[in-house]
Amino acid sequence: MPLLPVDSLPALRRRHSAKWSTFDDDVLPLPVAEMDFALAEPVAAALTAAVQRSDTGYVPPNPELPLALSGFADRRWGWRIDPGQVAVAPDVGVGVVEMLRLLVRPGDPVGISSPVYAPFYDWLNEAGSRTVDVPLSSDRGGWRLDFEGLEAAFAAGLKAYVLCNPQNPVGLQHGREDLEFLAELAHRYGVYILSDEIHAPLVLPGSSFVPFLTVSEAARVQGFSFVSASKGWNLAGLKCAAVVTANGSNADVVRRLPEAVQYRTGLFGVLASTAAFEQGEPWLDDLILTLDANRSLLATLIKEQLPDVGYEPPQASYLAWLDFRRFGWGSDPAAHILEHARVGLGPGPRYGPAGEGHARLNFGTSPEILTDAVGRIAAAAGR
Ligand SMILES: Cc1ncc(COP(=O)(O)O)c(C=O)c1O
Repeated sequence: MPLLPVDSLPALRRRHSAKWSTFDDDVLPLPVAEMDFALAEPVAAALTAAVQRSDTGYVPPNPELPLALSGFADRRWGWRIDPGQVAVAPDVGVGVVEMLRLLVRPGDPVGISSPVYAPFYDWLNEAGSRTVDVPLSSDRGGWRLDFEGLEAAFAAGLKAYVLCNPQNPVGLQHGREDLEFLAELAHRYGVYILSDEIHAPLVLPGSSFVPFLTVSEAARVQGFSFVSASKGWNLAGLKCAAVVTANGSNADVVRRLPEAVQYRTGLFGVLASTAAFEQGEPWLDDLILTLDANRSLLATLIKEQLPDVGYEPPQASYLAWLDFRRFGWGSDPAAHILEHARVGLGPGPRYGPAGEGHARLNFGTSPEILTDAVGRIAAAAGR
């Protein structure tokens, strides 16, 4: 199996990115969503060629990225994106904030469902929205949207809802029926759905990505999708994402985005994302096999060394949501683990109230680093 290589620890520690430069040198950093694999070859080649051309200016109106994304989405998911309904943005966060500014008024209620990617809270604040949390339900084992709660919030006047599809940090790929129902509810109550689909390329074996805009006409009328190559190919620092619609009047709203949204996007991001969508699928396939192997390795390591940790393997991406409540390490076990095990994890409480006693672990790394990290946590737990 062609598992992707990871550099040595000293080489990784020379990286300047947040993951590798935030912690002391004796810490194994497995927090922020960056991966440790070497870049996909076509992406590296596109960036090297850009450097050789000294091609470091602004992003022009650019048909190449929309075409590349449209081809990729069709081949990968059978999702027909009209390239004329794709706009670039510096990142998904800016895309969501700027779209909220166009769609809702300051102070309007906007929904999210925790536990969810922590910056959702910040994005809503930045847009001046009032955050309404309708937590995921977890009653019948497994996470799911809480439709009773959502309908109550929609009926009470929610203007927009920011969906995380698939959902970080719990690794939930929402099912087609659930998305259809969400779209129908949104249509009934006139709620915009902004679907953050940044982890879509990383849905793992056993699940399939369901693009929100494909589930129904109601979804196309209510919905805006935010996609990017930044998680799938590890390009977050290059600053490029796309806002996608499947409805003429929604596309008209997107056209009202400030021109600066295009100019603030990174040209390297556009070039790298175009290469990733056009030529990066073989690498992505290897990545998915690699992440799937790490997902299983983590399950084995936890079973053997930390059997009291709750871990439901994610359906998507490289983030594991770990329940440490049986350890007595308080509401933020990541703080205890950093101090006593020298492993950096994402603090659970940041992802919402259900994150108390939890931490998020990034397994987008080598089996050696993953094994070392779990061993260190087990040692800190006295196992
Ligand atoms: C669900 C989700 N959305 C957005 C982002 C950040 O994306 P961007 O840097 O494009 O804003 C992340 C990063 O991990 C994420 O997990």
